Amino acid sequence: MKKIDMHAHFFPRIEREEAARLDAAAAPWLRIDEDGETGQIMQADKPFRPVYRALWDPLLRIEELDRHRIDMQVVCATPVMFGYRYDGRAAAEWAARMNDLALEHCAYNPKRLKAMAQVPLQDLELACAEASRAQASGHIGVQIGNHLGPLDLDDDHLIAFLQHCGENRIPVLVHPWDMMTDGRMKRWMMPWLVAMPAETQLSIMSLILSGAFERLPASLKLCFAHGGGSFAFLLGRAENAWHCRDIVREGSPHPPSHYLDRFYVDSAVFDPRALSLLVDTMGERRVMLGSDHPFPLGEQEIGKLVAEHPGLDAGAKARILAGNALEFFGLQT
Ligand code: CO
Repeated sequence: MKKIDMHAHFFPRIEREEAARLDAAAAPWLRIDEDGETGQIMQADKPFRPVYRALWDPLLRIEELDRHRIDMQVVCATPVMFGYRYDGRAAAEWAARMNDLALEHCAYNPKRLKAMAQVPLQDLELACAEASRAQASGHIGVQIGNHLGPLDLDDDHLIAFLQHCGENRIPVLVHPWDMMTDGRMKRWMMPWLVAMPAETQLSIMSLILSGAFERLPASLKLCFAHGGGSFAFLLGRAENAWHCRDIVREGSPHPPSHYLDRFYVDSAVFDPRALSLLVDTMGERRVMLGSDHPFPLGEQEIGKLVAEHPGLDAGAKARILAGNALEFFGLQT
């Protein structure tokens, strides 16, 4: 059965000097250990995340895809690369450089590796321009963070970017980032375990309850990472609230469940019961294999959760493992 992993990350070999030109204190760079196999994503002198060679070396990436029997993988930036807090022009140059490096990474095996671009989301004009430039140069979509500082996805500026993508047939993956990390979130990777799913749910709810889907073109292909975070499990809660409280429904003419055919989610939920709920909620045409490879919080054997799911029939598996992604990205079979 064909398998396309539509949510995976890369990080290019960025030297400290290059990162320092964007921001000496916080722009990310890659420190590779002497053995060449492992390393750290760094911010100045501070380790941000331990990583290994598949993140930057397409040769090992393809070896791993062979081992996991994955036909195609779509890679995108590690969210720490986004650069949304910088001056728009500097961030646009940085994004263009990262996007070119992503295509270089994929050029090792262009049939099996595809890329989604990053954009300088803080500047609408530059973000649209980079999304279109990237599309013309071979990227098959864009990845954006789920918010821009205090602005959620329903902000006019972000809606205008999504409109540009919808009108120009540029698929969009929304990835949680810049989570609450202080105070009670400090230990045990709580920002990844608790805040990330909440951020994703917040993005979906903000689009629904603001009525943004009424304004966005139906042509927009939009996907939320990590199975949409907490969204599917708590849809009933939101639905009840919409019916019972006027302040919940003041922006949205329809209840939340009305908009389930306007977006996709990936399958990175790590538990067959969660995947059952997700497919029941979203439908088998709205879930796509996504692994978060090659990070430790990703699916360790890519595609196993879907392929071995006891409750999905062969047709549903074929859609989730590949068919839906082919449609989402407009790729030929
Ligand atoms: Co991810």
